[in-house]
Amino acid sequence: MSAPAAAPAADASAPDQTFLTDVLAGLSGDPKSLPCKYFYDAAGSRLFEAITALPEYYPTRIEAAIFRDQAEAIARFVGPGAVLIEFGSGNSEKSRVLLDACGEYVGALAAYVPQDISGPFLETVARRLRNEYPGLPVLPIIGDFTQPVTLPDLPPHRRRVGFFPGSTIGNFGPGAAAKVLRTFHDAVGPGGGLILGADLIKDGATLEAAYDDAAGVTAQFNRNLLTRINRELGADFPVDRFRHEARWNAEQSRVEMHLVADAPRTVTVAGRRFDFAEGESIHTENSYKFSRETLHALAAEAGFTIETIWTDPREQFAVAAMTAE
Ligand code: TRP
Repeated sequence: MSAPAAAPAADASAPDQTFLTDVLAGLSGDPKSLPCKYFYDAAGSRLFEAITALPEYYPTRIEAAIFRDQAEAIARFVGPGAVLIEFGSGNSEKSRVLLDACGEYVGALAAYVPQDISGPFLETVARRLRNEYPGLPVLPIIGDFTQPVTLPDLPPHRRRVGFFPGSTIGNFGPGAAAKVLRTFHDAVGPGGGLILGADLIKDGATLEAAYDDAAGVTAQFNRNLLTRINRELGADFPVDRFRHEARWNAEQSRVEMHLVADAPRTVTVAGRRFDFAEGESIHTENSYKFSRETLHALAAEAGFTIETIWTDPREQFAVAAMTAE
C-alpha cells in the first residue's frame, strides 16, 4: 500500500475529535469538501489496493515497469553504502526492486528505513524484510510523512536517499506538495537524494477513466468515506444517493474526485444539519498531474535539483531522481 497516512480507527461511542472537527469544517465550506486522508480505514485501504490492480488505473503498473526497466540506473543514483528512506512505506513492496538492484549493481545499502503511520504493520513488514535481506539493517520509524522526520541512529557519513513513489505527491496542492518535499529535503540533508514517482499530464479521457473505473471500485472507495463518517461520527448520509464523479480540471492540472447529491438532501453529522442542493458536490480529493517543467519547478521550490527523469515510452508516468542542495 502506498496510501497516505491512515487516521486511527474510532467508533461512534468515542468519536475521534480531530476527525469530527475536520468533517464539520469541510461540510461547512462552500464548496463542500472532505479531507482525503480519512479514506484509509480498513475497508478503504482494501479498496485502494483493488484500485491499483484495475485495468484503467495505469499509474501503479507503469511506475513498476519504470522501476524494473531502470533498476540499474536507479541503483547507481542511490549509490553504494547509502541509507534508503521510504516515506509512507506501507508494505514496502515498491522498495524491493530498489533493494534488489542496489545489491546486484552497486553493493549493499547501509540501511533501509521504512517510515509509516501504522506501527504494528511496520514491525511485521520489517521482520519479513530482515528475513529476505539478511545483512541489511531495516530500521523502521513510525510517523506521518507530512511532519518533520526523526531518523533512527544511522551509520554516520552515509548518503541518504528518500523514496516517495505512487504519485502520492499529487494528492497535495502545489504549496503543500513543496512543503512535503521540503521535509524530505531536511531528512536527507545537502547532497542527499530523492526518488519521486509522479503521474504525468495526458488526455482527459484516460485520466478520468483511471479515477472512474467500469467496475465501480473507485466509486466504492470514494463513497466509503461517507460510510465511515456515518459509522464513526453518527451521521446519516444516504451513501448510495451520492454519485461518484472524476473530473479532469485541465486549468489546474488535476483530477478531482467528487460525491454529487442526486436530489436535494439533508444530512445530520453529530447533530449538525447540512443541506445539499440537487447536483451539489462534496470535493473529496485532488490528484495533480505533472509535466517535466512543473516537476523541475516543484523540486526547485523544495531545494532539490532534478538529475534525471525516467519515463515509460508513452510518457505516461515519471520517476524523478533529484539531489538536495
Ligand atoms: N496518489 C495516487 C493517485 O492520485 C493514488 C490515489 C490516491 C488514488 N487517492 C486515490 C487513486 C483515489 C484513485 C482514487 O493516483
